[in-house]
Amino acid sequence: MTTAEQFWEGFYLDRDQVWSGRPNPLLVREVADLAPGTALDLGCAEGADAVWLAQRGWQVVGADVSATALGRAAARAEAAGVAERITWERHDLSQSFPSGTFDLVSAQFLHSPVEADGERDAVLRRAVGSVAPGGVLLVVGHAGWPSFMTEPPHEAHFPTTGEVLASLRLDDRWEVELEDLVERELTAPDGQVGHRVDNVLRVRRKQPPRP
Ligand SMILES: C[S@@+](CC[C@H](N)C(=O)[O-])C[C@H]1O[C@@H](n2cnc3c(N)ncnc32)[C@H](O)[C@@H]1O
Repeated sequence: MTTAEQFWEGFYLDRDQVWSGRPNPLLVREVADLAPGTALDLGCAEGADAVWLAQRGWQVVGADVSATALGRAAARAEAAGVAERITWERHDLSQSFPSGTFDLVSAQFLHSPVEADGERDAVLRRAVGSVAPGGVLLVVGHAGWPSFMTEPPHEAHFPTTGEVLASLRLDDRWEVELEDLVERELTAPDGQVGHRVDNVLRVRRKQPPRP
């Protein structure tokens, strides 16, 4: 069986740059009203989100299973002059996890065609434990394939926000701030224009009551 490291290293080694280098628009939208603090970016890829957060004053840990992606991310941070605000950590998040707690934990499109059943749920549950009191867990994911993709490349279940929420097993110390579906326009490699729907779940760990 292909491991996450084997799959994602192959994915990144295939091209010099995979992603656009721009931060995810839904991260930008959801973080706009947050005061900068500490942030953890799960599946940080080539670092665009982490660099964007650092440029806004966040102290960031970016975690990914691919050493190649992390190398590109570190180079991007260096070029942007924010290297000292970001720590890059290589983890297969199903096996190990960054230590500490964070004011923002972000999982943007943490999908993987080689994940075992329940693996993503377990990673996100671990993420719940790494949110500091008063902090936010932001989970953005695809809700389906792009509209022009008539034959999906592999089988995938794209969880709804309700399914993600149920899997997090939050107690009453948490508040659900947002469940949203967002459609965006997308251009296929052959130039065909279509759309893709993503979903957003934002939950906040309440501050404990003052004694
Ligand atoms: C679909 S990409 C999304 C990348 C980025 N967050 C974004 O929104 O552009 C998924 C990322 O998660 C990483 N990833 C997948 N499975 C992982 C795992 N088990 N542990 C750590 N990173 C993983 C991949 O290497 C990849 O960079």
